[in-house]
This record gives sequence, structure tokens and C-alpha cells, in this order.
Amino acid sequence: MKLSVNIALLGCGTVGSSVAERLVHDAATLERRAGVRYELRAIAIADARKARPASIPAHLFTADARRVLDDPGVDLVIECVGGTTDAAEFVERSLARGRHVVTANKDLLATQGPRLHAIAAGRGVTLRFEGAVGGAIPVVRALAESLAGDDVRAVAGVFNGTCTSVLSAMEDGQDYGEALRDAQRRGFAEADPSGDVDGVDAAHKLALLVQLAFGLAVISPRIPRRGIGGVSRADVERARELGFRIRLVGAAVRADGGAAAEVAPLLVPDRHSFAQTRGVDNVARIVARDAGTLELRGPGAGGAATASAVLGDVVSALRVVAVEPSGQCE
Ligand code: HSE
Repeated sequence: MKLSVNIALLGCGTVGSSVAERLVHDAATLERRAGVRYELRAIAIADARKARPASIPAHLFTADARRVLDDPGVDLVIECVGGTTDAAEFVERSLARGRHVVTANKDLLATQGPRLHAIAAGRGVTLRFEGAVGGAIPVVRALAESLAGDDVRAVAGVFNGTCTSVLSAMEDGQDYGEALRDAQRRGFAEADPSGDVDGVDAAHKLALLVQLAFGLAVISPRIPRRGIGGVSRADVERARELGFRIRLVGAAVRADGGAAAEVAPLLVPDRHSFAQTRGVDNVARIVARDAGTLELRGPGAGGAATASAVLGDVVSALRVVAVEPSGQCE
């Protein structure tokens, strides 16, 4: 039983800074819910010269992520670095040292998830990633926990807010480039938005849902995808005249011990819930043998929305760490 859990946060960008602010300012509430006290030991950042929110105590920042990871007192690591280079090393190193990890890194888990989950299982620690799919929508927990006693047959949805922003802005008369720049300004698009518009980001999220829903070690490069680059304003307008909207849809169906999965821009009837997404909205539809058809929707991106999911995982992880015997980590 631990009296206090030590947390390290890696990364302080859009999501990381929202997580840090909540950890600092909502500590009493989060500790009450977790049933244990915690200390945010350090926030590792790549660029020490970059301005950081004044609401986060400056002494927490360090540019030496490896020193943070080597601190034997750290019990729980929150990875908000993003990407697959440093983040892969940091997550693997944390798990291998017996630390629980929370991440929202879909790129990493969609390409290396099966390997990282195996390391976590081997060390008896948890790797939580609710924020990696659907922002604030609790779809990971729904598949991993709520539906664990059912048999999920299909998952589908609209999982990329940038594409929905661009397509819905084109419905309002903006052109493609203008709409994409607007999504970038509003912070939905990735640093390199080609992964959004090419369907790579949606394929990452679909891969994670397939892993969870069907228990298959599918990685995202295996999922066929088409993005929205070929969709013109004329296509969008013609679709509207015919009673449809175009949305980037990801869908996977269980089939013969495997799954058929694809990401593509589809014509969706106006009244369908997938068509009724705008801006950053995501929607996830799950079809299960006993539960029937479930649908979850909400903000799929943005610092605060994604931090909500990350912090839910942090509270869950704190509850686990709290009851571990001391000295679990290396
Ligand atoms: N770039 C992503 C999107 C952010 O547009 O949905 C959330 O994963």
C-alpha cells in the first residue's frame, strides 16, 4: 500500500499542458477519487526555451526526459510527447522498468501496440490509452471493459476531426485549403496535417479499435485507406443536393477469425449519425452480439477533451498503484 504515488509527465504540448494544469490545480479532487495522494515530480519537455503556461510551476519543467525516466521513485508515467521516435523509447523504457503508463499516442500504439502491451503484461503493469481514440469519448473503456463479456461484431465511425472540419466547412462554402488552415488554427490538425487528410490518423484509431474489439494484433499499415484529398467542393455540393454528406469513415467487421477494415470518404445519408458530425465531433458505432448497436459521440480532439480521457486513465492507474506493495518498480 502506497501513501503517495509519484507521477512523471512527458511532453507539455496541447494535451500535456491541459493534463499538467489539471494535475496541479485539481489535485485534491483527483486524489479523493483515486483514494491516494500523488506528487507530480517532473514534466519533461523537448524545448526548454519555449514559453509554458504560467499556471504550471516552473520548477517542474526539465529538458532531461531520460533523467526523469531513470528516477527510481517514479511509479506512473504519462506520455504526451506524441510521434513514434522518442515516445516509443520512453514508453518502452517506462514499462520495462515496471512503471504504469498512460498515453494518448495513437501513432505509437497503432504501429507498436501489440509489442508494448506484451512488455506491459510481462512486467505486470498497465498501459492505458483512452485518449488515443475519440478524444473525450470513452470508447476504449467501452470495448476493453464494458463489452468484455460480449462478442463485438463490428466497429465503425468518424474518427478524424480535421477531415470532418474540412468537409463540413466545404459544405458551408469554404474551399479545401482555407478549411484545412482553419482546422490547423483551431488545433485539431496534427503538426503535419497530411496524416489527417490522407486517412492515416483515422487508420491508426481504427487499428486500436480492431485490437480491442476483436483481440487481433492488427497494426494500422495493414488497413487499406483513402483520404479526403480527392474530394472537391463540387463533390460536396453534389452530395448535398442528393441528400448526402461526405465523411471520412473507418469501419471494421469481424470475419472468419480475422477482420475486414477500411478507411475511406463515403457518401452518408443526411439523417445518418455519421453525417451529423461537424467540426471536431467524432462518433463511434459498435455492434455487439448481446448489447446490440451502441453509439458514442463527442469531441474527438483538442487539449481539454483529450486531457479528460488521459486523466480518467490516470485516476484508474493511481487506484492500481495505490494498492501495490512498495518497491514494485525497478
Ligand atoms: N488530428 C486529430 C483529428 C486529433 O483531427 O482528429 C485527434 O486525434
